[in-house]
Amino acid sequence: MPCQVSPYVCHVFVCTHDKCSERKACATTDPAKFREQLKALVQQNPALQGKVRVSVAGCLGVCAQGPNVMIYPQGLWFSGVTPADAPHLLVTIEALVAGREPPA
Ligand code: FES
Repeated sequence: MPCQVSPYVCHVFVCTHDKCSERKACATTDPAKFREQLKALVQQNPALQGKVRVSVAGCLGVCAQGPNVMIYPQGLWFSGVTPADAPHLLVTIEALVAGREPPA
């Protein structure tokens, strides 16, 4: 089984409560739609091409604080995410890819 270094600077996981047994906070919005929104923003930035992947995570294990977004390998966790947070997440991703500190 080959093992390689990830090709992505940031791998963004957006929970979509597909596998969540609680279906609480993460189900209060449309995280699949949010993921598509964030993915589109990333794709519009040429500096992020091939460096960022926005993926669906059925459940990130912290449903009560959802919807959740986690970014690896930086290990950043955003909870209670709403569609209005997409621009802030994009700025964070841009900073990480550029090797800068992300905004607070
Ligand atoms: S569905 Fe479990 S963390 Fe979002």
